[in-house]
Amino acid sequence: MTTEFINISLLVNTCHPHQPLRGRELADLPCIRDAYLIIEDGMIAAFGAMKERKSVPGMDPAMTVDATGRFLLPAWCDSHTHLVFAASREEEFVDKIRGLSYSDIAAKGGGILNSARRLNEVSEDELFRLAWIRLEEISRLGTGAVEIKSGYGLTVAGELKMLRVIKRLKERSRLPVKATFLGAHTYPMEFRDDHEGYIELIINEMLPVIAHEKLADFIDVFCETGFFSPEETERIVRAGLGYGLKPKIHANQLNLSGGTQAGIKLGALSVDHLETMDGSAIQELSQSKTIGTLLPSAAFFLRMPFQPARKLIDAGCAVALATDYNPGSSPSGNMNLVIAMSCIGMRMLPEEAINAATINGAFAMELQDKAGSITVGKIANLILTKQIPSLAYFPYAFGSNHIERVMIGGEWVS
Ligand code: NIG
Ligand code: FE
Repeated sequence: MTTEFINISLLVNTCHPHQPLRGRELADLPCIRDAYLIIEDGMIAAFGAMKERKSVPGMDPAMTVDATGRFLLPAWCDSHTHLVFAASREEEFVDKIRGLSYSDIAAKGGGILNSARRLNEVSEDELFRLAWIRLEEISRLGTGAVEIKSGYGLTVAGELKMLRVIKRLKERSRLPVKATFLGAHTYPMEFRDDHEGYIELIINEMLPVIAHEKLADFIDVFCETGFFSPEETERIVRAGLGYGLKPKIHANQLNLSGGTQAGIKLGALSVDHLETMDGSAIQELSQSKTIGTLLPSAAFFLRMPFQPARKLIDAGCAVALATDYNPGSSPSGNMNLVIAMSCIGMRMLPEEAINAATINGAFAMELQDKAGSITVGKIANLILTKQIPSLAYFPYAFGSNHIERVMIGGEWVS
């Protein structure tokens, strides 16, 4: 089946880099004005300037989309989410309004432990049903590829249940989905004073089954004061690496707790969050191959300073943007909002933000050959905008919906 877009006002991001974009490269967003694009069997088959277009023989006119005045972008690549969860946590949100901090809530058994209690009470089918609704919601918001973490099980059965749900999402969804094992999200109550016991459970009971059933692509640890130390992180990650799971680390969210350095040392694909960075963490990240994934909606929701995107980019780092969609620190999977926040709150240029939310997000999930840019042979995951005057208008008019339709795998989802 062939679909053709014609008269595209701006075809955005035709880059095809072999490495994540870093530093100044992020501001370079190749686009084609007055363009066409052809999709065959769900894949991008050809594109270029209208003046070079040759008509497709036998093309069904009903499958031609006249995109006059509108832009076509690669769909967003959201490389950090926790979208499998059993229940929302707006009671904690109200507690935070009243003055409690994220750490206060965690210390009294709320937060991640609250989500773990709820998750362990819910059936796998119900968990799948809830996650499917969220996956459909984010695809209508323009997300075309997503990473999803476990980490609300914290028991062997709970973690496996979450990862089996993610596996079913992978099988059922047209979106490319990557799974990350985050058994080391926090210590369950019964292991509060027995870290060794929980680490052994992760290494000896969870990882072998996960590897055997091929339930994860990556491994993650919440490396943070009061959660997992850099040494504990290293032990868990090395065990995961033994099963071929590359690390993606929750780092430097609440404190300068050494997560960035631990991630770099372990060859992490990405270190994520980075709200709390000092000069040496920035410097070390810029000298490494590790991507810094920024989650501005989590900083916003927790009333923390935004990530220092300008300093990271100016130091030459590779940065990606993601939503962190989860019930505790970012109850939103809206990448459009993340892009606007990165421009408004972190002074990223619109071009930098779009690269960080597309091709660099794809790299942060090892999906760069399938998604993240307008490239022949990639999946036709596309955002067709409404009529907008410029690309900068997208993050500028941040409260409006600029998306007319979203296509995933060559089929309209909205
Ligand atoms: O990425 N920081 C750790 N984990 C999640 C939040 C989890 C939760 O509060 O439920 C995050 O922010
Ligand atoms: Fe997270």
